[in-house]
Amino acid sequence: MTPHYDVVIVGAGAAGLMCAATAGARGRSVLLVDHAAKIGEKIRISGGGRCNFTNIHASPAHYLSRNPHFCKSALKQYTQFDFIDLVQRHGIKYHEKKLGQLFCDNSAQGVIDMLLSECADGGVTLKTGTSVSSITAKANGYRLDTSAGHFSCESLVIASGGLSIPKIGASKFGYDVARQFGLNVIETRAGLVPLTFTDSILDRCKALSGVSVEASVWAADKARFAEGLLFTHRGLSGPSILQISSYWREGQELGVNLADGVNALEILKNKRQSNPKQDIKKAAAEIVPARLAEDICASLALSDHLADQSDKKLNALAAAINDWRVKPAGTEGYRTAEVTLGGVDTDALSSKTMECKTQKGLYFIGEVVDVTGHLGGYNFQWAWSSGSVAGMNV
Ligand code: FDA
Repeated sequence: MTPHYDVVIVGAGAAGLMCAATAGARGRSVLLVDHAAKIGEKIRISGGGRCNFTNIHASPAHYLSRNPHFCKSALKQYTQFDFIDLVQRHGIKYHEKKLGQLFCDNSAQGVIDMLLSECADGGVTLKTGTSVSSITAKANGYRLDTSAGHFSCESLVIASGGLSIPKIGASKFGYDVARQFGLNVIETRAGLVPLTFTDSILDRCKALSGVSVEASVWAADKARFAEGLLFTHRGLSGPSILQISSYWREGQELGVNLADGVNALEILKNKRQSNPKQDIKKAAAEIVPARLAEDICASLALSDHLADQSDKKLNALAAAINDWRVKPAGTEGYRTAEVTLGGVDTDALSSKTMECKTQKGLYFIGEVVDVTGHLGGYNFQWAWSSGSVAGMNV
């Protein structure tokens, strides 16, 4: 006889674990399968090992999707404060780092252990190292052929995540299942990812590798982010760049303010009056880090005292600081991306339950769905919210 479960969940990451625990707590028999030997790997490596598990400001405005309204219901049904309650009940110590981002004081493993303990309380059966070779729709549910045998279930939840970081188990499984059942998949692309360059800017980035500034970065009429920016030997990274990468498209120019909140022109003009003998590089180094100041002045062929600089030259220097225009060649791709943009078209799903509108008993949750958060704990919150909502309905 084929073993039967009320619910089978494929993918024991953030969303799958949350869904399993929620369904188990309702008394549903749950099988949670993952092809990886170790589950919750993205939780473990997230937030530099301390897991930025949610954001106290989480709201629909922090998510990208073809349908920006889709995430509203799940985020409302299971909020960041619900997850914070859970974390507190398990005695996990945490702190706000900045901008509402909550991190564990200790290891991210605490979050994995918490979810596993919730799954154990709900009697969830976990099978790791188990790959699914086929899924067949039956009269009252689904049959799965896996490397651990055949299973049948009433509800099937796909929580296999996106394509980022293939070396820890990311796969296109979820998109294939969606297509098998005739659902549309919105084109996927790497998000929250460093930007790369091939032109002369690459040489400058290499030379400045390791320099960081408080910047603001914008993509035409789309979004603006004021956070750290880091020069690397491949191009630009840091939170502001990761954020804008989710909005940037090939061929577009980005605007970068390398000294956010500082009016470089005003400072330079005042200095030319108050300290005319100051070297222009030294003056610039009071606005941006010295290595960067040196590089910008060299790129504009600026040298000598401030008194020798025309308004035109000071304008050029100020623009290079406050309004630097760059055209990235691309991104570092899924190898380093934190998330995958696009995914299962939300038009195919109920925003209240995450169930397919056309395929009874089939659910998609977490990153595999076309809902992607900003950097800062928003992606885990989507995993918790969508996982919880499906867990309440499977
Ligand atoms: P997730 O990827 O977590 O889980 C999917 C699971 O499915 C995996 O266990 C995988 O092995 C399994 N799977 C895949 N294919 C399968 C198949 N064919 N068969 C069986 N199982 C399969 N977000 C945030 O909010 N705060 C943060 O601090 C960070 N930090 C961070 C750092 C890094 C380096 C990355 C790469 C990502 C983050 N993120 C983040 C993003 C966050 O990790 C991500 O959005 C969630 O883990 C998504 O949860 P899911 O459960 O949808 O997928």
